[in-house]
Amino acid sequence: MKPSLLLVYPTATICLVLAASAQSRPLSSILKSLHILGNSQFPLTNPSNIAMPPGVSSGVIISDVMGKTQTIAIFSGLTRDIDSVADRLDDASKNATVLAPDNAAMKGLSRKPWEDPKEYESLGESAYQGQAGEDRAHRNMRRFVEAHIVATSPWREHEKVETLAGNTVWYETKGGEKVIQPGNIQVLSVADKVGNGEVWILKDVINYQ
Ligand SMILES: *[C@@H]1O[C@H](CO)[C@@H](O)[C@H](O)[C@H]1NC(C)=O
Repeated sequence: MKPSLLLVYPTATICLVLAASAQSRPLSSILKSLHILGNSQFPLTNPSNIAMPPGVSSGVIISDVMGKTQTIAIFSGLTRDIDSVADRLDDASKNATVLAPDNAAMKGLSRKPWEDPKEYESLGESAYQGQAGEDRAHRNMRRFVEAHIVATSPWREHEKVETLAGNTVWYETKGGEKVIQPGNIQVLSVADKVGNGEVWILKDVINYQ
């Protein structure tokens, strides 16, 4: 548990909730501010962000490389805001395959990742206001991010695996390209292969509800 997350998260949640009500503010700018919050507040509490002295080789892990790929910056920022995911990617003893939707996929979402149409239906416009609303937004955001983290690496073709959110996914190779199932989601590239797993870049998001 990183103590700084406890301080950061409430602020981030408030941003989310404000964002949910301030419809005019584009998702990308909200996510960008979340990303900045994360960067300014936790770099030194995360050992992987502290440069190793020359000559000391430490195993590179997912949390070291996630932030380096600009095309997945929005999703990477979210992984740092969710304790369970940040801790997992920072744990050298637990492998994962991160299925990171690229920035275009994140900006193209038809609703924000913390919004659930069923909750708007049952609770109305105030679904994400107040303490209960914040909790709901947090839970939904966590489910979204966890649905993109496969708890297995290496991951073999056709092997059905669970994500941290509990949904089952697998992949096939079609015309030389990896495609995540269900949903036929194209894997654009494998950004990194490191000690505790791999980071894949997806053209779209995993169906997360
Ligand atoms: C974790 O990933 C590393 C690097 O690919 C691999 O050598 C190791 O066998 C994996 N461990 C498990 C338990 O899958």
